[in-house]
Amino acid sequence: MQDRTPSPQDLDPIERASIPELRELQLSRLRWSVSHAYTHVPAYRALFDEHGAHPGDLRSLDDLAKFPFTDKAVLRAHYPFGMFAEPRHRIARLHASSGTTGQPTVVGYTKGDLRTWARLMARSLRAAGGRRGDRVHVAYGYGLFTGGLGAHYGAEELGCTVIPVSGGMTERQVRLITDFEPDVIMVTPSYMLAILDEMRRQGVDPRSTTLQVGVFGAEPWTEDLRTEIEGQLDLHAIDIYGLSEVMGPGVACECVETKDGLHVWEDHFYPEIIDPLTGSPVAGGTLGELVLTSLTKEAMPVIRYRTRDLTRLLPGTARPMRRIEKIAGRTDDMLIVRGVNLFPTHIEELVLRTPALAPHFQCVLTRPSRLDELTVRVERRSGVSPSAAEAAGAALAGLIKETIGVSVSVQVIEPDGVERSLGKMRRIVDNR
Ligand code: DLL
Repeated sequence: MQDRTPSPQDLDPIERASIPELRELQLSRLRWSVSHAYTHVPAYRALFDEHGAHPGDLRSLDDLAKFPFTDKAVLRAHYPFGMFAEPRHRIARLHASSGTTGQPTVVGYTKGDLRTWARLMARSLRAAGGRRGDRVHVAYGYGLFTGGLGAHYGAEELGCTVIPVSGGMTERQVRLITDFEPDVIMVTPSYMLAILDEMRRQGVDPRSTTLQVGVFGAEPWTEDLRTEIEGQLDLHAIDIYGLSEVMGPGVACECVETKDGLHVWEDHFYPEIIDPLTGSPVAGGTLGELVLTSLTKEAMPVIRYRTRDLTRLLPGTARPMRRIEKIAGRTDDMLIVRGVNLFPTHIEELVLRTPALAPHFQCVLTRPSRLDELTVRVERRSGVSPSAAEAAGAALAGLIKETIGVSVSVQVIEPDGVERSLGKMRRIVDNR
């Protein structure tokens, strides 16, 4: 793998700022953001008034804890544009999150917000090992989803050549990778696996492509999957995080030189971790729900937005800004099987430790009698005999029992048996 560490003089000055400088900037931006929300969004004004919290109360960053949380329900209640803090003619773009349940969530951006987003995506891409002059293959979906356009404008901002492929047409993805010779690919990790399979089907050696860096996000993925993808493709596999409500991709990103969790771009977002059950802040480094406050967003400020994503807040390493650990899962995706809590990422880790099985799996929940049952449907790797794969399936069930402490059934199926995602993979199939 090429050394892709960016040189220090290429970083934004704030990426090298001291912690006190950063905190000072955050406090002044936080004051602006909270009062912007209070002044221009009636829903925030009502919510803050109800809590007896006033923007003037913000004397230190800790005072943010006096303000109420917001969540998807608040945004939904003001569908479509009720959370906007700017008049209609200042909104330059709309995006929306898919909304698996109920209404989609609509988000808006001013021209200034779009500029900030492009810069933060450029910063993320540079942290990931991308450079000016690189060719960047964008296979995140274009459209209302923030992945495609977010990656696109960030790569342009960094001075790259963008190849706006979007998701889907996997055969063509492989062809464009071999013909256009990109240096960087930006795609969900699960769709990367589908592209990888297609390379093999076409007789393309995945290690022979020009790809040096993969910027993977929009869904949880594990260290074991990083090892798998890096080994198969001979590229740096980097994690990028974001959510439409808070901006889109580029809220946090890993640095290629450390790959040790995602630096939150704290000059624009203020992170907190809370206990998802009580809402109280947790001690530093403890697993909990990530809460984000935007510090510079004009069109749609978010104050103490509960992301439902579970992670830990860790001190900075490659940059002074704090890191979040790779997301373990969403609170909504936590499976409770016979009283044991688990996430699909736990299963992913163990599947990847079973060499005869492919990293294509789903967790199927059923309730045949009074208790929930979990079946892990997983593909055998092509080239492995069905009997060897059966034995590996039994071993996987044993490993899950031993490490997670829950009995599950493992059903080993043929290669290509698990539905491929073109974007975010549906890991949980709930047949209860
Ligand atoms: O998924 C934005 C994005 C696009 C991020 C491309 C990274 C790359 P939404 O569709 O609003 O936005 O979904 C946001 O996806 O709350 C997490 O649950 C999940 N998610 C996003 N990035 C990661 C990640 C985009 N790196 C929701 N690891 C978030 C784990 C992620 N989960």
